[in-house]
Amino acid sequence: MRFYFAPLEGITRYIFRNAYEKYYGGIDKYFAPFISPTDNCFLTPKNIRELCPEHNQGINLVPQILTNNSVAFIGAAKELSDMGYKELNLNLGCPSGTVCAKKKGAGFLTEWYEMEQLFDSIYEWADSNNMKISVKTRLGRYAPEEFYDILEIYNRYPISELIIHPRIEKDYYKGRPRMEFYEYAVEHSKNPIVYNGNLFSVEQIRDYELKYLAGRGENELTEITETNSLSEKEKIMANYSFSVTDTVMLGRGLLYNPELLEQYNMESNRNGKINNVKVDSVHEFQDFNFKRFWNFHDEIYHNYQEIMSPDKNVLFHMKELWTYWKELYPDDERAIKNILKSKNYGEYEASIGIIRQV
Ligand SMILES: Cc1cc2nc3c(=O)[nH]c(=O)nc-3n(C[C@H](O)[C@H](O)[C@H](O)COP(=O)(O)O)c2cc1C
Repeated sequence: MRFYFAPLEGITRYIFRNAYEKYYGGIDKYFAPFISPTDNCFLTPKNIRELCPEHNQGINLVPQILTNNSVAFIGAAKELSDMGYKELNLNLGCPSGTVCAKKKGAGFLTEWYEMEQLFDSIYEWADSNNMKISVKTRLGRYAPEEFYDILEIYNRYPISELIIHPRIEKDYYKGRPRMEFYEYAVEHSKNPIVYNGNLFSVEQIRDYELKYLAGRGENELTEITETNSLSEKEKIMANYSFSVTDTVMLGRGLLYNPELLEQYNMESNRNGKINNVKVDSVHEFQDFNFKRFWNFHDEIYHNYQEIMSPDKNVLFHMKELWTYWKELYPDDERAIKNILKSKNYGEYEASIGIIRQV
């Protein structure tokens, strides 16, 4: 399996990416949170700081562009190409009200004529400039059935990877992903597809792998699970040529549990049995390496202090991380509450001191 780190605006910025890569790694591609170029300003100084090669060394990074405007896309794409990027991602999934009201992100998914015009321009430019363009999409804006027509449009363009988050705008990030529509894409996409959404545990990743990569229906799964070794499974998979790739994109799962991929790899290697899954919940942390987690934390905390001021900004970003990291400390509700309430470095450090074991 290959793993992409999802773009998480305000979270997976370069400081976070570098720290994650240093302490955990195992990511095939990081997708940067979106930038929003306009007709007259393609990349802001802040965008450049985020995406410049010096701040992303040793990281396979794909910049993401949020726009419905080909001039803005191509303008930004040229500057990113000059910085050395060979792949860009178009955001057609952002569900934020202000973004959708401007017919961008998931809000663009109802504008099929304009979408084709945008795609005509950007794929023509990409073709003559040796650039790959992948798309990260939701199923639709108002109804998942919109996806049937949207996929027809996608199928007419050389989308390098179609990353599907099977929800609609109003689902936001809640509820179960609408897998029946993802399955439609597995059957009908002409472009390679990558799944994204709610893979939070080793078991969920393995379930996805078994269901979509073994290329079998539910009934046959049990048999494969019980009788086949990993190498046999690979042989079975080789006989199926679906659009679905052996890649998934993970976002919140890697925040809830930064060791998720390591645990997945460990379980995959153990005995070579594909059903040998023991870690089935984000709450199972018996072997979690807290020392490493705190080094990871400290690196982010200190590096934020270098580039941001005053306390408030740094703490805003740290607290956002703690809305996920609190899963690592299910029995320390009170301390977590104090972390989330802290107003200055002193209060913050006193609160983390209570749960910090190493
Ligand atoms: C705080 C937050 C910020 C996000 N920012 C972006 C973004 O900049 N671009 C994007 O395409 N998706 C963004 N997303 C969506 C994620 O990339 C991903 O599609 C979503 O979280 C579902 O994947 P997950 O269930 O693995 O987290 C964001 C999601 C969250 C929760």
